Amino acid sequence: MIFGRVKPLDAILATAEKKSLKRSLGAIQLTLFGVGCIIGTGIFVLTSVGAQKAGPGLILSFVVAGAVCVVAALCYAEIASMIPVAGSAYTYSYAVQGEFLAWTVGWALLLEYAVGASAVSVGWSNYFVNTVMERSWGIDVPDWLSAGPQALGGAVGGFINLPAAVIALLMTGLLLLGTSESAKFNAILVAIKVTALTAFVILTLPVMDPANFEPFAPAGMFGGIGSGVGIVGAAATMFFAYVGFDAVSTAAEETKNPQRNVPIGLIGSLAICTIFYMLVSAGAVGAIGGAPIMGPDGVPYNAGPALSAACATAQYADALVCSPEPLAHVLQEIGYGTTGNLIGYAAFIALPSVILILLFGQTRIFFVMARDGLLPEALSKIHPKWQTPHVVTIITGLAVATAAAFFPVGALADIANAGTLYAFAMVAIAVWQLRKTDPNRPRPFRVPAIGVIASLTVFGCVFLFINLPLEAILVLPIWTAIGVLIYLAYGRRKSHLGRGIVEVHEPEIHDIQPTIPGVDEDRASDPNANRPLT
Ligand code: ALA
Repeated sequence: MIFGRVKPLDAILATAEKKSLKRSLGAIQLTLFGVGCIIGTGIFVLTSVGAQKAGPGLILSFVVAGAVCVVAALCYAEIASMIPVAGSAYTYSYAVQGEFLAWTVGWALLLEYAVGASAVSVGWSNYFVNTVMERSWGIDVPDWLSAGPQALGGAVGGFINLPAAVIALLMTGLLLLGTSESAKFNAILVAIKVTALTAFVILTLPVMDPANFEPFAPAGMFGGIGSGVGIVGAAATMFFAYVGFDAVSTAAEETKNPQRNVPIGLIGSLAICTIFYMLVSAGAVGAIGGAPIMGPDGVPYNAGPALSAACATAQYADALVCSPEPLAHVLQEIGYGTTGNLIGYAAFIALPSVILILLFGQTRIFFVMARDGLLPEALSKIHPKWQTPHVVTIITGLAVATAAAFFPVGALADIANAGTLYAFAMVAIAVWQLRKTDPNRPRPFRVPAIGVIASLTVFGCVFLFINLPLEAILVLPIWTAIGVLIYLAYGRRKSHLGRGIVEVHEPEIHDIQPTIPGVDEDRASDPNANRPLT
């Protein structure tokens, strides 16, 4: 029976007990950690992509995407506080829905983390090339070296996005060496990002022109299933701006009074980001306008050769929707060139940490899947000196760098979203299922009205999914089909669970947890915290 292999929850929890961490995280630290993981390419770069889909209605798109994330976050929080082990949604699904569905979740998470890391790398490259190289240092970077091919939606004359590939490889190198952000460094990056967005809002709000908000929804509320346009089409893309909050829920086990602090941390960080996102998008559109470029059928162009060609004409040279570095561009346009450059530098400095967090999540999922026998065991090898899973890290880094080199940021974000939405929906179902199958197990955090919240999460995820562009929608079933074939050919036979081996050991990786402000110091001073477990 293909759905029959369920990993016993007790075995998973025995794993968790072995590595149980001190509960030291408060609501504010958790919120800060969340904001650090969340703010990135979504707001700094995709703002122009979202405006091309929705026009000024982009402001509402952020509310729609944020609302789906809040209900999904509550579900994550319950299961993460119950099953606080490595592997996130994949592990939860293994314990509740069985190996086959868990494999599909893990396989979809590769899209969230790996393709997400590629998207952020491309976003970083945009600021590096435009703000740092060209405007600050006066070095002209040719188009063929700084964008993917036009046929794939890159700029006219694009061939390879070298800076994006290089930053992905650099971050991979840091991960290989076992680098994770220190708590202080994380706090500094959060401060830089928040200061940059605040400065943007302060400078743009006074020059907002109400005329720039007319018409508010030139592509309508719903562009149609698979169209990827309209306010909900933009919401499906801007969902990427919230990806990363799942890291907060995985910190549930390290949280003091999780029943109170986890929801505050999750909802607090999502609320702060939503408010910033709405203000920033309002400022950008209000200051210079955000009308989409319409195709001959009166529908906004999706990313692709036609949009790239339109953006290369003089008519749209200064349009928000064509800017690869929209926040810096808006400030240039309204006469704050220096501050615009500083905001570009903020993105340049802060985005690599988002790449690091996503790459880290990717290697962790890969590692746990290999440890379960579903991927070749060679992938879970730990480097003797660096104590990191070097094989999966190198493979991941090369794949992420290749995707970043050739694909545009919007398409990558949409594909990452497709995988993430599938995983979120499965988590919501797992939480609800577990309430029925195992009602008495202790739950440090319980979602109120689980039936309503889980249903809303599944509905919201499906809703956003069908509003992605058709290509991104199609990637998920194709990707899943490839995954199922691999499972049937390999994982099904090699699975440790299938062969009767149920381990309760934790990965032998010293840096398996992302750094959390306040917790890391405890971990660093605890001689057992990072020891390899057997
Ligand atoms: N939410 C993260 C970003 O926008 C992934 O870059």
